[in-house]
Amino acid sequence: MTEGPEELREPSDSTTVVVIGAGPAGLTVASLLRRSGIDCVILERLTRGRVAQRQRAGIVETRAVRMFDSWGLAEQVLGGAPSDGLMEFRVDGESHLVSDDDGSEGPRARLYPQQVLVQKLTATYLADGGDLRFEAADISLHDLAGDRPTVRYRTADGTLRTITCAFVAGCDGDHGISRATIPDGVLTAHAFDHGIGWLTVLADAPPPARPLLAVSPHGFAAHFARGPHTSRYYLQCPPEARPGAWPDNRVWEALRTRLADPALVPGPITDREVFRLRSVVHEPMQYGRLFLVGDAAHIVSPLGGKGMNLALHDADLFARAVRDSVHGHDDTGLHAYSRRCLRRVWNDQEFSHWLTRTLHDAGDDTHSGPFQRGLARARLDRLFTSRNAARTFAELMTGLDFVPDVEAHDGPGPVARGSAPAGD
Ligand code: APR
Repeated sequence: MTEGPEELREPSDSTTVVVIGAGPAGLTVASLLRRSGIDCVILERLTRGRVAQRQRAGIVETRAVRMFDSWGLAEQVLGGAPSDGLMEFRVDGESHLVSDDDGSEGPRARLYPQQVLVQKLTATYLADGGDLRFEAADISLHDLAGDRPTVRYRTADGTLRTITCAFVAGCDGDHGISRATIPDGVLTAHAFDHGIGWLTVLADAPPPARPLLAVSPHGFAAHFARGPHTSRYYLQCPPEARPGAWPDNRVWEALRTRLADPALVPGPITDREVFRLRSVVHEPMQYGRLFLVGDAAHIVSPLGGKGMNLALHDADLFARAVRDSVHGHDDTGLHAYSRRCLRRVWNDQEFSHWLTRTLHDAGDDTHSGPFQRGLARARLDRLFTSRNAARTFAELMTGLDFVPDVEAHDGPGPVARGSAPAGD
């Protein structure tokens, strides 16, 4: 990149890791790096207020709670009510409680709105002296395959700035700049479209006692808490449906029918949108010194609550890998990052896929047909009656279903200093 006169004047600084994006992935990466004494800068394109109000996921799984606990961050960043571990499956109006009790000891999952986690991570990181730059525009990444990548961006007042670093954490979600910077042909995208739409509704209405998933011949519906007085609802709909085709009365009527709850208490609807249930995994999750974290690398359908928790898992592996490289000159974790993350990504994709197909096929079979409906009903029957099936489900819900890779199996040892650690 030849330096023009403007570039020569632009203010520049350097750090160890530049984190692109201040969502759950970026804030967790930066918080864990700071706990490891590693210098980093977060660049976020939105304002702090906009980031803080984005309502998305609502559960921090047991594994993630224990991850924050192991880093000494649980007290500062985790609030919310410890979950009683029970989830209600309501099939044709019949209630079945399913537990996430996997028999393990230690802190349990938290029903906890994502935006509150983001707010607490932000406050903790800034209070700890963390460098978080909001309204960073026109971010571009350079020399990712070299030893010292460069990140350029424009500040809110229009100043062009440059940061050189050792690593870039692409935590900018599914539509960010990080993955888009990787040259064609490097990544492979594995995508699946369920052919199902969800109308998602946010309302100031009483939350359920516990997460509620409803199977009905009229289509799938769900009801989750998003705070003491706020509820998130999902209604299966045609993927091409428009939110405007779902006025309030139609929403509440469909929810009462599908949740088999004629007394469901409504409330002012504050947000409604339709999205397609789709999943995608980009492999590998690395290019040179750019490491993709969270939604920047993978999207999973929301059932099972794995989207945010996969982001937290990636963040933990990345932070530990950088810590081992910087402090211990051991690049094993960097080499193994993509493979280790993808092992859990595919595991959680399979679980979310299983849950999505089961809960939709078991209800309105116009989409998948009566044979798939029979299979789905059998899967539910097994879940409700077999102790082993319930235990497997519980382990998948907690995220403690398999032992992480043993480091010794992870590829070569420390690389010669100065070369970009290639993933194995
Ligand atoms: N430059 C800087 N910041 C960016 C850019 C960019 N070009 N593009 C996106 N961002 C920011 C977004 O504004 C957002 O704050 O990156 C952040 C990405 O956050 P998320 O999309 O929340 O992704 P992630 O941190 O991986 O968390 C995944 O968030 O969207 C939910 O359902 C998803 O629960 C899952 C979780």
